[in-house]
Amino acid sequence: MHHTVLDAAFVQDPYPLYARLRREAPVSRAVTATGLSVWLVTRYEDARAALADPRLSKDARRIREVLEIRGGVRVLDESIIEHMLNSDQPDHTRLRRLVGKAFTARRVEALRPRIEEISAGLLDGINPDSEIDLLTAYAFPLPITVICALLGIPDADHDAFRSWSNTIVTNSEPEEFERAQSGLVAYLVQLIDRKRREPGEDMLSALVAARDDGDQLSERELLAMVFLLLVAGHETTVNLIANGVLALLRHPDQMARLRADLGLLPSAVEEFLRYESPVNMATFRVTAEPVRIGEVEIPAEEVVLVSLGSANRDGDRYGDPDQLVIDRGLGGHLAFGHGIHYCLGAPLARLEAEIAFRDLLTRFGRIELAPGRELRWRDSQLMRGLVELPVRLTPA
Ligand code: HEM
Repeated sequence: MHHTVLDAAFVQDPYPLYARLRREAPVSRAVTATGLSVWLVTRYEDARAALADPRLSKDARRIREVLEIRGGVRVLDESIIEHMLNSDQPDHTRLRRLVGKAFTARRVEALRPRIEEISAGLLDGINPDSEIDLLTAYAFPLPITVICALLGIPDADHDAFRSWSNTIVTNSEPEEFERAQSGLVAYLVQLIDRKRREPGEDMLSALVAARDDGDQLSERELLAMVFLLLVAGHETTVNLIANGVLALLRHPDQMARLRADLGLLPSAVEEFLRYESPVNMATFRVTAEPVRIGEVEIPAEEVVLVSLGSANRDGDRYGDPDQLVIDRGLGGHLAFGHGIHYCLGAPLARLEAEIAFRDLLTRFGRIELAPGRELRWRDSQLMRGLVELPVRLTPA
């Protein structure tokens, strides 16, 4: 069996390889750019089944062991690794229930005016008729500011918070990464302490109260949970916005349709998620026992990557999968995962994206790619996101 290498060319355009694998070797061995040997699942039906299979474990200890033994992957500090996305049942059920109490539909909807205000403020700061990087000016700051609002992080701390989290989610130097990680952990410990003494209306205060109300959540789990909310909700949403704008720029007919009927926004957002899935390969899972996926028997203790980006372009599931069609209808895609780890922040991400696209399209009568610039994708095994998105904006 040949080993596919997920190299730099793959990062720039994974779709041709995905298409070939779906056809020829839908569950196959691959080696990541850092040398980690994995199994890659590329078809929609297999991906969906794998995501819901409890034999594919996300347990932090198991993942740490496998990744450290095989090397090449940076594992986060012990103090912040034990969160719901790195746990199996029954821990997962307990952790998710606790945060579910704090992350209600009402709390998300209550954020709407605040998100609109943040979006408007960022767009006011853009000088139209000039070339700008939409990523730095808008797609990046919007979600991080929203998370700060959700968690109740004081305005004065936003910049420090943003810089740590940016260093952690990008491929930074090991020393720089360590410094940002310990800075952020120390900050969160102190913030939790402050919320305990002076609780507010925010979600972090609600989580602290949930922790203190009976012993269902350890202090360590609380810290890890806050860390997870921060990283899971940031770069993903940045990429949804920027990838969606790029998809529209590359499909002018779809841009025109959306401009003509903003009622299509909810289904357009689902199509952006399908077409250029921000979490392109999902996170790691480890087989707790031998597991058969499709035609392939995967032994125990192997790393499995379920490719959401590939599943969402599977021609057996979607007609014309490589075309952006903004009114395909809602749902069905795997961009938010599936099963017990289905994205907890999906309603918030959808709300942010709808506000972002509505604001961009109503403020700017024309959005064009800046000419003569080559677009680069970030060097990441998991995420699909642009390094920058240089555009020209013309006010409406
Ligand atoms: C889980 C994608 C935004 C919080 C997940 C998973 C995916 C995902 C694919 C499952 C990973 C797996 O099963 O391995 C996305 C995308 C987003 C987004 C594409 C934006 C477009 C957010 C936001 C938040 C958030 C805004 C919160 C502020 C979480 C949490 C989990 C999760 C807590 C873990 C759930 C669990 O383990 O039960 N997300 N996410 N996400 N996401 Fe999101």
